This record gives sequence, structure tokens and C-alpha cells, in this order.
Amino acid sequence: MEDKKIILSGIQATGDLHLGHYIGVLKRFVEMQEKYNCYYMVANLHALTVRRDPEELRENAYKLLASYIAAGLDPEKSTIFLQSQVHEHAELGWVLDCYTYMGELNRMTQFKDKSAKHADNINAGLFTYPALMAGDILLYQTDLVPTGEDQKQHVELTRDLAERFNKLYGDTFKIPEPFIEKVGARIMGLQDPTSKMSKSSTIPNDTIMLIDTPDEIMKKVKKAVTDSEGIVKFDVANKPGVSNLMTIYSIIKGISIEDVEKEFDGKGYGDFKTAVGEAIVKELEPFQTKYNELINNKEYLESIYTEGSRKAAEKASKTLRDVYDKLGLI
Ligand code: TRP
Repeated sequence: MEDKKIILSGIQATGDLHLGHYIGVLKRFVEMQEKYNCYYMVANLHALTVRRDPEELRENAYKLLASYIAAGLDPEKSTIFLQSQVHEHAELGWVLDCYTYMGELNRMTQFKDKSAKHADNINAGLFTYPALMAGDILLYQTDLVPTGEDQKQHVELTRDLAERFNKLYGDTFKIPEPFIEKVGARIMGLQDPTSKMSKSSTIPNDTIMLIDTPDEIMKKVKKAVTDSEGIVKFDVANKPGVSNLMTIYSIIKGISIEDVEKEFDGKGYGDFKTAVGEAIVKELEPFQTKYNELINNKEYLESIYTEGSRKAAEKASKTLRDVYDKLGLI
């Protein structure tokens, strides 16, 4: 176990997950747990940068935890925990705040985007968010951080902070590498296939939620934007809608894009969409069954996060102790 490379990643506890999370994130997490020593976190402290209803925030942590396990994460193989239960995150986050320059945080594109979106609540937490995230990563002596392209800048900042600290105080943190999803694994909106599928999309039928019913899924796929060519061919620039559906189909079926082209050679979009919709429904069925079971079994979920958080704290507390010693914090 100890000689395996260490992975840490997390998803913000901000609501229901969608197909992009499932294909781009959860399935990758599940694959990685065989090969790596994985820490998977429910990032609920990060969720505070936007005003949340407390009941919802609590419920969202359970939902995310249930999604992790329903997708196939195994608490025996991976350490699955809640950020708020491992107090070392907030503590190292504060320390790193003091080693991060305003100029560095000012350059973060996510900060710029989010402050434009939440202009009435540009709080300090939104600004220092990347330092908290750096703390998440550095506490576990992480080798690899699987994330989307949008988080790469944060992982790069994490590396800079780790190097800065190591230079000042001697070897303390492992320098992590970003581990970015393959381009093909990026799932786009069904109505706006030029933007990543997102739960904050306001366009109806743009996003397939993991808890959508089979009927809803079929309906959304049938309505997905395509083009007037009528040919199932992969061409992101000219046929973003069809290409996105092909990506979804190829990943779920575990076949290449060429195989998808062959399978639908001479067939129209109607047949193609039916096949894509059915593939999604079939793929999500076991997930949904498991999820529905878990979400009604809070006691089980509590036992998972309690044990996971205990295991996470074991590792995190060693790093934080070392940091405090080096800084002169008694
Ligand atoms: N910032 C990430 C996101 O919005 C979530 C996150 C928080 C995270 N801490 C992390 C991801 C540590 C990877 C590692 O998607």
C-alpha cells in the first residue's frame, strides 16, 4: 500500500451530479483505486464560498458520498472522507494563506469567473480558495491530482507553494503533479455542446443528471442539438453536438470513436440517439439502484465517513505536525 503513488481529489458538495461528473470524474476515480493509494474527499468547506442553506449542505455531503460509493468507490480500497471532519484542512489552509501572494490569487481564472458570477458576495474565502485546495493536496503527500482542465491552475499554484515552503523550511511537502482528464473524456452540454456539461447550466435539457429517470434521459438525448448533415462522424469543430454524443457512447461502451462511426454508418440521427440514450440508461441503472439504497441508509454512510475521516486524519496530522514544528507553532 505504502509504495503505491498517492492520489487525492475531491468534488465540491454543491448538489446533484450529472453525466459529465460520472464519465469524467467518478469512473476515473474508480479505475484509479486499483492502482493507487487514493484519498477521495467530499469538499464541503470549499462549498462555503457561496451562501448555502445548512440543511442542503449537510444533505449534499451525504449525496456526494452515496454517489462515490454507488459509482464503485470501495471504502476498503480508498480513503473516502469529509473535508470538514479532518480539521487539518482548515489549519493548513490558513498557514498556506500566509505563504500565498495576493498577486498569485488575483491571476486565478476561477476566481475571476466566480466573482463575476457572484458579484454580490465576493468574499475572502472565494479569493483564498486555491490555498485551501493546496492544503487538501499537500496534507497527504500527494503524487497525482486528477482534475479537470479548469483546476490545473490551482494545482500549479499548489506546486509553487510547496516548493516555496520546502525552500524556506526544508523538505516538508511532496510536489504534486496534475493528472488531467483526456480531452475525449470531456462531456459537453446537450444543448450547448461548446460548453462543458454543468449543473449550473440554465438551458433546459442541457444536462443529464445522474438521478434522471430513463424517460427523462431518453427525452433529453432525443432533443440534443445536432446538425443538418445526418452523418454520424466525429468532427468537434463542425459537428460538436454529434461528436459529444459519440464521445459519451464510446466511453460507456468502451469502444473507439472509429467503431462508433462504423456502427452508425448509413444510419440517421434518430437511430443513433436512441442507441446513445439507451446506453446511458443502461449504464446508470446499477448506479441509481445503489444510490437510492445508500441515500436512505444514513447510518451506513456515517460509518463510511467516520472511518474514512479517521484514516485521512492519521496521514494529515503527521504532515501538519511537521509544518507546525517547522514554523514554531507549539
Ligand atoms: N476545486 C475543485 C473543484 O471545484 C474541488 C477540490 C477541492 C479539489 N479540493 C480539491 C480537487 C483538491 C482536487 C484536489 O472541482
